[in-house]
Amino acid sequence: METLLKGFTLTEKHKSESAAETVKLAKKFAARLKENDVVALSGQLGAGKTHFIKGIASFFGADGKSVISPTFNIMKEYYGITMKIYHFDLYRLESHKELERIGFRDYTSDEGAICVAEWPEKVMQIAGIYDHVVKISHKGGDKREILFYERKGGKKQ
Ligand SMILES: Nc1ncnc2c1ncn2[C@@H]1O[C@H](COP(=O)(O)OP(=O)(O)OP(=O)(O)O)[C@@H](O)[C@H]1O
Ligand SMILES: [Mg+2]
Repeated sequence: METLLKGFTLTEKHKSESAAETVKLAKKFAARLKENDVVALSGQLGAGKTHFIKGIASFFGADGKSVISPTFNIMKEYYGITMKIYHFDLYRLESHKELERIGFRDYTSDEGAICVAEWPEKVMQIAGIYDHVVKISHKGGDKREILFYERKGGKKQ
């Protein structure tokens, strides 16, 4: 986590007490996203990363119900009205080469699209590509702490 957050600064700190509240917060977060932004969703198993992405996808007009973890195909895409969302789950990735093979870099520069990735810590080789990090932590029961980080000095290269 230390290295994932290298070059990032904490911008907002939130609390959530239900899955619905997390989705709502994610919709607000999504308003700041721009074409080609890449978002890292960090947090333990069941923290709510996928729920957060449901919120992002619905903000752009995609069906939040279609958002599920793309465990078996690494990437799922959702078509919003104003944005395409590429959803990656890096949990089971063998190596970053696998990610390069499926054309990860092309997705991050695709017109009218943003990328979101669960389990960014699994592939530290691409840590430099993220514009935003969202960190969700369990705080007992349905409580979560949700932190927003942004890259210092804005968009990388
Ligand atoms: N405050 C909350 N925010 C988000 N999810 C919550 C909250 N409280 C309870 N939950 C529940 O926790 C689970 C979160 O699941 P979700 O798939 O979003 O997590 P995840 O971080 O993507 O997990 P994984 O690492 O397995 O992909 C859901 O069952 C959801 O209903
Ligand atoms: Mg998930």
